Amino acid sequence: MPETILIVDFGSQYTQLIARRVRELDVYCEIHPYNHLPSLDSLSSLKGIILSGSPCSVTESDAPNLAIDAMLDKFPVLGICYGAQMMAQQLGGEVLPSKIREYGRARLRHLDLHSRLLKEMTADSQVWMSHGDTIAEVPSGVEVIASTESVKVAAYKLQDKDVYGIQFHPEVTHSTEGKTVLRNFVVHICECAQDWTSDQFVEATVASLKEQLQNDKVVLGLSGGVDSSVAAMLIHQAVGKNLHCIFVDNGLLRKHEFEDVLHSYKDMGLNVTGVDAKAEFYQALAGVTDPEGKRKAIGKAFIEIFDREAHRIENVKWLGQGTIYPDVIESVSVKGPSATIKSHHNVGGLPEKMHLKVVEPLRMLFKDEVREVGRTMEIDDTILGRHPFPGPGLGIRILGDVTAEKVQILQEVDHIFISGLKNSGLYADVWQAAAVLLPIQAVGVMGDERTYERVVVLRAVSSVDGMTADWSHLPYEFLSEVSNQIINQVKGVNRVVYDISSKPPATIEWE
Ligand code: XMP
Repeated sequence: MPETILIVDFGSQYTQLIARRVRELDVYCEIHPYNHLPSLDSLSSLKGIILSGSPCSVTESDAPNLAIDAMLDKFPVLGICYGAQMMAQQLGGEVLPSKIREYGRARLRHLDLHSRLLKEMTADSQVWMSHGDTIAEVPSGVEVIASTESVKVAAYKLQDKDVYGIQFHPEVTHSTEGKTVLRNFVVHICECAQDWTSDQFVEATVASLKEQLQNDKVVLGLSGGVDSSVAAMLIHQAVGKNLHCIFVDNGLLRKHEFEDVLHSYKDMGLNVTGVDAKAEFYQALAGVTDPEGKRKAIGKAFIEIFDREAHRIENVKWLGQGTIYPDVIESVSVKGPSATIKSHHNVGGLPEKMHLKVVEPLRMLFKDEVREVGRTMEIDDTILGRHPFPGPGLGIRILGDVTAEKVQILQEVDHIFISGLKNSGLYADVWQAAAVLLPIQAVGVMGDERTYERVVVLRAVSSVDGMTADWSHLPYEFLSEVSNQIINQVKGVNRVVYDISSKPPATIEWE
């Protein structure tokens, strides 16, 4: 089992970022909410604890709280912002609302460069602050190891213990030496061996899947995306032909995608059945115009079809899924599952309906780690490098009701756009690209004729994880070329527009 850093979440927007930074150091970590903490003995080889920030104030009576006494004696601890304030308060220090809210860049002063936490940092290192409270008085037995111009206690250490608190966020890139601080804590203070690598993950996961699954049969739905493909390959390495994959053509995929992806899967040695269910999906979608209604109709049809196909395989015991860590964290967050903005998890009811045990080999990995594991297993780059594609596919890119004819028009438009991006070497620079068919018609002129035809939107965004996004500044020449091709080649479309909205306040998809 890997050495583990426990990250206790008090609700900060940056908690996942802390975990990603720790993992970038090749050290395994887990996030657990402060109010659902596992017993520390149950975590394998626990090496240290990080207490996250929080939007709350320790000065409020109902602020999140965790008795830390027992931890401090057993493990190195690093409190970040709220974590640092909560620790200082519990140990007898004083935390007060700051006179000015400290937000943004600051420079560290009076650094104790002999401190194991701050060694190798530069004397006036830039850090990112975001807090409304400040540690006015440190507890006895605590030494201040860094300040800023306006914050007396920017970093502190408990004498005789490997326990530290910092008032800045080392996990955000604006803290230019934040990585050094985290490395010092995780590698030098907690003494983690930095052996959490994708090779090691594949080896350990395949071994534990063999143990878990024995000779049982597993069924898994492939989507053509990175997560389900990598999950399938891991399970395949463990149980070979006992993994039965199902790839459903819901009629909402990109042009030629079903055939191309099915081919790639077969080349990868997967035991996969392709199911043409286009007609069933179009029927389920007939007349449905509400975006959530469409998601639900598509999700329900998928579950029915998948269940039916899975029943053709005798004696299946397990359902394989490509669930990844952000989904897991979200479902047990400090505030409970976050409010639904869009129901992204389209097939949530599948395990309940099928009465199968669930196996999710990627549930502790972030997306970039999934790609890395895929590379280690030599999965083709055409699968690993793909832009994200939503489960309901073109169904939520055709505004209003969905018909086979509209799907066909949008597939042609999308194909010209995506091939254009690939041929111009722009595909990998864009996080996600999409074409959207609007439910309106516009006036145009072709030859001597007045036309009244469809409008399509091209959307391309840059993003890290889809939570926020900016529109991609694609070259005008490229947009002009693609727009000409679309209007000349796709019958029924006479106008192309480019979406220049960022998220927030817009979203990436139009529905
Ligand atoms: P939004 O539109 O919320 O999208 O900015 C963020 C990311 O999520 C994808 N997305 C979905 N994925 N089922 C999915 O599997 C969905 O219903 C769904 N809706 C949005 C979207 O493509 C983007 O990558």
